Amino acid sequence: MSRSFGTVRAVDDVSLEIQDGEFFTLLGPSGCGKTTLLRTIAGFADLSAGQIRFGQKRIDTLPPHRRNTGMVFQNYAIFPNLTVGGNVAYGLKARSVPEVQIKERVARVLRLVHLDTYGDRWPHQLSGGQLQRVAIARCLVIEPEVLLLDEPLSNLDAKLRVEMRAEIRELQQQLKITAIYVTHDQEEALAMSDRIAVMRAGKLEQVARPQDIYRAPATPFVAEFMGTTNLLRGTVAGRAGEALRIRVGQQEFCAAGKAGEGESVSFSLRPETIRLLGPGETPPTGWGAFEARLGSVEFLGAITRIELQIGNDTMLRVASLDVLPDELKARGRIAAAYDPRRITVFRG
Ligand SMILES: Nc1ncnc2c1ncn2[C@@H]1O[C@H](COP(=O)(O)OP(=O)(O)O)[C@@H](O)[C@H]1O
Ligand SMILES: [Mg+2]
Repeated sequence: MSRSFGTVRAVDDVSLEIQDGEFFTLLGPSGCGKTTLLRTIAGFADLSAGQIRFGQKRIDTLPPHRRNTGMVFQNYAIFPNLTVGGNVAYGLKARSVPEVQIKERVARVLRLVHLDTYGDRWPHQLSGGQLQRVAIARCLVIEPEVLLLDEPLSNLDAKLRVEMRAEIRELQQQLKITAIYVTHDQEEALAMSDRIAVMRAGKLEQVARPQDIYRAPATPFVAEFMGTTNLLRGTVAGRAGEALRIRVGQQEFCAAGKAGEGESVSFSLRPETIRLLGPGETPPTGWGAFEARLGSVEFLGAITRIELQIGNDTMLRVASLDVLPDELKARGRIAAAYDPRRITVFRG
């Protein structure tokens, strides 16, 4: 499917298949087309080209209320003049469900989102997290085929966001509902999803499981967008057994990958995969090692962020558990090691 606004290709020739019961996340920077893609599924935006199907049934030709989707928004979109129960019952009333059934279904779904005793409260009496639970309950009560969530947690503070993401995931698993979740938060995507689609400028960069997106990024963009990494550029100098030897300035790195001698490549090496070696310590078998000058050191409690200068113009970021800045500064030159299998090489 595609969707353009004038000359802007908001969603640009995207093909996706999402499994029944899957928690599928659209992840990407602001403006990459996530909301537009979600809105075309809900029917709030038309397609410029393509089709959307639920199973065998084509749904992009149906009006929004006949698609059987529920959508949760960032700003909750709760009716302030209705109670919590009234908000949740709204969609059922609109579908002329009998009153007795409404009562029962509202009570059941309020239990699901842990708001059993809140049915008579007014929205202004609720916290942000509770309001978002009402919004989710209001969608779930109509038993949608697909639950669509557009950055539902971004108005909440950091701690609550972490709690709520676990809660939403648990609910989705319990109900076995198909969920399409939009976020620009990498950690949220990793924590919640069965699969992630990383988007960039209306196109899909990679669709894969969280661990594969993180450990085997398909492009330099995915490597950099997904967490923090060292993205280095070098020239293939030859092979060392199975590994490539890649020259970066005066330094050589070993990396698992395929490329020809003399080829210019870039590669990603995650800060947390680099291990500092103590004085006299040798690297594990099969690992590469290098020496570096200590750059800046940032002590963050659980981890310490370190910059290592190798050669004149290459800086490597390292994230190390359980190391104190003073210990490092006393050493002068630092030795470090890495596993060549944890390097991802990109050709071209
Ligand atoms: N109603 C609209 N009219 C014109 N341009 C739009 C409209 N909605 C979105 N866009 C444009 O489409 C692109 C994708 O937007 P959007 O889907 O909101 O991205 P995201 O949700 O990833 O931040 C952006 O360039 C945005 O400016
Ligand atoms: Mg958006």
